[in-house]
Amino acid sequence: MKLKHLLLAPLLALGLGAQAAPMVIKFSHVVADSTPKGQAALKFKELAEKKLPGKVQVQVFPNSQLFGDGKEMEALALGDVQLIAPSLSKFGKYTKQLGVFDLPFLFDDIQAVDRFQQSKEGLAMLSSMEKKGITGLGYLHNGMKQLSANKSLSNPGDAKGLKFRIQQSDVLEAQFRAVGSNPQKLAFSEVYQALQTGVVDGQENTWSNIYSKKFHEVQKFIMESNHGLVDYMVIANTKWWSGLPADIRKGLGEAMTEAIKFGNEAAFNESASFRSKVIADNKAKVLPMTKEQLAAWRKAMAPVWKQFEGEIGADLIAAAQKANK
Ligand code: LMR
Repeated sequence: MKLKHLLLAPLLALGLGAQAAPMVIKFSHVVADSTPKGQAALKFKELAEKKLPGKVQVQVFPNSQLFGDGKEMEALALGDVQLIAPSLSKFGKYTKQLGVFDLPFLFDDIQAVDRFQQSKEGLAMLSSMEKKGITGLGYLHNGMKQLSANKSLSNPGDAKGLKFRIQQSDVLEAQFRAVGSNPQKLAFSEVYQALQTGVVDGQENTWSNIYSKKFHEVQKFIMESNHGLVDYMVIANTKWWSGLPADIRKGLGEAMTEAIKFGNEAAFNESASFRSKVIADNKAKVLPMTKEQLAAWRKAMAPVWKQFEGEIGADLIAAAQKANK
C-alpha cells in the first residue's frame, strides 16, 4: 500500500471523509399552506435548500401540527423549533410596542402597513427583542381583518353582549370591550370548534384565514370592516441565529428575504380571490359596510388608542399614522 493510502485509511475509518449531515431547520406555523404565510414558508424551504445544497434541510410544519399558539415561542426559546412567524398580536409578553399594529382603524390598508414596517421605526422593532432572545428576520403580510358573527353587525351597538374570539392581545381585548362585547383569548387551532359549538359568537380574521379554516361555514355574517390587520414577524432564536456559520446565516437570510417577498405578493394579490371564494360558497353572508357605519365603529373603538398610548408610545403611533396617505 502506498504511504498516502496508509495515512488516509484511519481517517476514512473514523468517517472524517464522509460529508456531514445537513442541518435540520424546523419552521412551524399555525395556518394552512395556501395562505401567504404557508406559501412563504414553503418558498423558504425551496430557496434555502437550493442556496445551501447538502448543508441545510428545512422542515415546514403548517396548521399547528408541531406547535400551536402559546407553545411556539417557548419551543423557539428551547431550540425545539428554529423559525416561527407569529402574528404581531402575539408578542405582548415580549414587547408592548408591537401593540401598535392592533390599534383599531389605524392603518387605511395593507400598503400603509407595509410603509410603516419598512420605516425607521418599523425596522427598529425587528431587533427590539434581542435581549429576550428573539431576532426578527422580517415582516410578512397576511391582510386586513373582517368581523364575523352570527348576527349582522352594522353598528357597534349590535356587538353588545356577544362573545368574540381574539388572539393573545390586550389591545384586541380592549377593542372588543369598547363595544360592550366579551373577548376570549383562544389559540387559532381552537377557533373553528369554538364557533361551531357556540363557545364564541364571532371572531375577526383575514379572508385567507377565514376561507382556509372554513370559519365562513360556521358564521352567518361577515362584515367587510377592514378594521385591523393580521401580519407577522418571522423570528429566530437570537443565540441560534447569531451562532450559525457565516455562510449558512447569509444563505438563510437571503432565502428568507426572497420568501417574504413571495409571501407578501401572495398577500397583496390573493386576498380578493379568497374573499370571492367565501362569497361563492354562499354559507355566510358578506355584508359591505357604509362609510357612516365604519365611522361609528371607529368612534366607538377610539378610546383604545388613548388607553394604550403610554405603553406603545405616542411617537410610534404618530409614525404609524404617517404611513397612511
Ligand atoms: C390568528 O390567531 O387568528 C392568526 O394569528 C393566525 C395566523 O397566524 O394567521
